[in-house]
Amino acid sequence: MRVSRNSLALLLAAALVGCMGPEGPQGEAGAAGEAGDTGPTGPTGPRGPAGPAGAAGDTGDTGPAGPTGPTGDTGDTGPAGPTGATGDTGPTGATGDTGPTGATGDTGATGATGPTGATGDTGATGPTGPTGPTGPAGQDWPGPAPAAYTAANGIKGGAAYSQWYNTFADGQGTLGAYSVTVGSEFVRCKTCHAWDGLGNAGSYADRTGLSTGTATRPDVSNANLRATVASSTYQELFDLIVRPTGRPINAASENRHPDFTPYLTDAQVWNLVKFMREEWVSPNDLYDLQVAGAPMHYEYDAATTSWVLKKPVLTFTNIGTDGDGTRGDTLFTAQCAGCHGADGMTIPLETGTASLGEFVRKKPHEAWFKMKFGSGPTMLPGMVTATQDIKDIYKALTNTTTYPDIP
Ligand code: HEC
Ligand code: HEC
Repeated sequence: MRVSRNSLALLLAAALVGCMGPEGPQGEAGAAGEAGDTGPTGPTGPRGPAGPAGAAGDTGDTGPAGPTGPTGDTGDTGPAGPTGATGDTGPTGATGDTGPTGATGDTGATGATGPTGATGDTGATGPTGPTGPTGPAGQDWPGPAPAAYTAANGIKGGAAYSQWYNTFADGQGTLGAYSVTVGSEFVRCKTCHAWDGLGNAGSYADRTGLSTGTATRPDVSNANLRATVASSTYQELFDLIVRPTGRPINAASENRHPDFTPYLTDAQVWNLVKFMREEWVSPNDLYDLQVAGAPMHYEYDAATTSWVLKKPVLTFTNIGTDGDGTRGDTLFTAQCAGCHGADGMTIPLETGTASLGEFVRKKPHEAWFKMKFGSGPTMLPGMVTATQDIKDIYKALTNTTTYPDIP
């Protein structure tokens, strides 16, 4: 019989199973675990403290010439320093388990000092300095008053402005006593210059005269006596009134300022100068006057083929201005009512056409003059002299219930 190679292998394997061999050597240790993950980044360190304030700004420049302005404001504080740097990353966690959280980072470094603040603005101009001391007294203009002026009586001067020939103005009484024949309208100062001294620019803007067809009156002068008074010396005013070069008083009824040489005494002229300088009440203190329309003039009317006189319209308002009517009533009762009656109706004025209230309301430019400087033998100069009293009485007389018109 033949034994094949396969049979031999089978025989060999059977022998092996029939008896176990010795144990083998121990296996190698397993490989180490992998390294733990890197711990998480530590939290950002707290912000560094703000940098110190910037240095103070420079003081503002001195203000412009004149008063020194207040010192400029201190410059603004500089901006905060930069944020501190991020803290360091915490240490890497131990191998194996996930590492512990890293420690908090260090506080950041203090920020750098901020830049210097900007220079403060120039201070505002300071308030105006106090008024300088009063300078030395200037020269008194128009110089020292002459003794004759000092001794003069301005109230009588006002009376003379109205009627220089009247005894209440220290005159001889009548024009006849002076042999003046030209007519009172041509020699009374007020006729040519008006009660307010403004001539044809004031309350006489509508008064007719020779050249406008009224032979019984001169033209109202366009001289402004108030302005002349303010710009003339005592002696100049005296000379302007006496006027030896003026119209010979009886020469003719015309507009020129008369030559008063033989008619007024020196004392009367000084009274007039004093009145003009010291006693004339400014019209604006007593009332408002509106002059509406062109100055007086003639216009040719083709329809009637004649020349027609045109006059401006005068309106008085605000009579008594800021006067006190209640006080005026008291003054009226004490000083006027005895003759004029409590309602101002007892003595009819304006040839019976006006009560006292009506007179004042229609002619406030004239009434005060009569109250202060006289009007006749019973209304003597000096009855009411204080401007405040005149205003108060005026104010009272604007009441048409207490002081009515003549019906
Ligand atoms: C008939 C009209 C008339 C009478 C009245 C009259 N004057 Fe004149 N007066 C004039 C005229 C017009 C002027 C301006 C021209 C001149 O200076 O002659 C004038 C000028 C003046 C001046 C100078 C003013 C200036 O600036 O030139 C004074 C001051 C003056 N008169 C005061 C008086 C006094 C005060 C009285 C009364 C005593 C008076 N007048 C009477 C018409 C008159
Ligand atoms: C003693 C009596 C008496 C007393 C007081 C008196 N008057 Fe007269 N008044 C007269 C007589 C009279 C007249 C009219 C004749 C004249 O003008 O003199 C007159 C006229 C007037 C006129 C008009 C002047 C004119 O030219 O027509 C006025 C304005 C006037 N008086 C205001 C007053 C005032 C305001 C008072 C008080 C402060 C007053 N009077 C006090 C008697 C008086």
